[in-house]
Amino acid sequence: MRIEQNYSLLKYNTFRLNVKTRWFVEYANETDLQQLLHDEYFFSQPFWHIGQGSNLLFLGDYDGVIVHSGIRGIAIQEEDVDYVRLKVGAAEIWDDLVAFCVNNGWGGIENLSLIPGEVGASAVQNIGAYGTEVAGSIEEVHAFSLQTGEKKVFGNEECHFSYRHSFFKDSANRGLYYITHVVFRLNKKPQFKLEYGNIKDYLSGKEINLTTVRNAIIAIRKTKLPDPDRTGNAGSFFTNPYIGLAHYGSLKKDYPEMPHYPVDNEVVKIPAAWLIEQCGLKGKTVGGAAVHEQQPLVIINRNNATGNDIARLAEEIRQAVKEKFSIELQPEVNYIG
Ligand code: EPU
Repeated sequence: MRIEQNYSLLKYNTFRLNVKTRWFVEYANETDLQQLLHDEYFFSQPFWHIGQGSNLLFLGDYDGVIVHSGIRGIAIQEEDVDYVRLKVGAAEIWDDLVAFCVNNGWGGIENLSLIPGEVGASAVQNIGAYGTEVAGSIEEVHAFSLQTGEKKVFGNEECHFSYRHSFFKDSANRGLYYITHVVFRLNKKPQFKLEYGNIKDYLSGKEINLTTVRNAIIAIRKTKLPDPDRTGNAGSFFTNPYIGLAHYGSLKKDYPEMPHYPVDNEVVKIPAAWLIEQCGLKGKTVGGAAVHEQQPLVIINRNNATGNDIARLAEEIRQAVKEKFSIELQPEVNYIG
């Protein structure tokens, strides 16, 4: 078990805020984790489990315990001619796993290339991009309950995956399960999903295989999304809102060009990026925080922003979209502190 005091979280939040935590604890294995879950001092403090911090906004220093998993490893559990089952430690870097699968010829998560973060958080968030959600490749999630101290294996259905959501994010369960491993089922005969946006344009004239698809996704992401190693950001700050058909019908009169994606017979999804752009907020700043010019759903740390600059800018965006469209944007980013 690694324990640090007054520890900088600069490397553990992709907004690159130089905040500190009173305690930083990293468990190396399940035995360490069980020890932590029986520690009275730990439970007497505020605590929060993080991954790479690619979806977190620290509003200031954290007066408690930040917990991080150190459980790594990628192990083949089973394979046949069609599929491979992989058990992956929660602290593996997500994109390293994608690269590993692509290099081995295993399909299912290639459209999720270059998403920042770790494997455990990928399941909590049900990360998604370019027509793929990780839920489609997850067979099991192994987690310890903070309430019972027991390990539980969740089958895919028990994870209640939906758009950017899972059982582990439900308000009743939030923060109460520490994921140790995720079991993936990958396809040795990949079925490509190339319908989203301009993926096909990037692939035109090329052979379609896992490597060319991964490279196309990486190229597309790089044109729109800032690299967190250079410019602090947490990807999409808000989720794309769902609105009822009646609401959509009334907005369509004023905005006939409004992009929309049917979810079912009652609900449509509207791109939050479009709503924010319509409010004239591209490039808008508060302190050191700014709305990204290429993808206004992303807030960037342009110049030594504080967590509060980012939160104030997010609030201005929410208010503007609410006033103009009567739509309440929900942050995808978790606020801490
Ligand atoms: N749009 C604009 N103006 C812009 C950019 C986009 O109006 O400047 C509109 C366009 O109508 C465009 C639509 O927004 O067609 C969708 O844009 P984009 O394809 O960039 O995707 P997104 O809906 O904004 C979602 C995910 C991203 C993921 C992309 C690609 C959410 C919250 N975000 O963004 O995920 O990479 O699709 O699949 O669902 C993340 O979660 O951090 C993330 C980056």
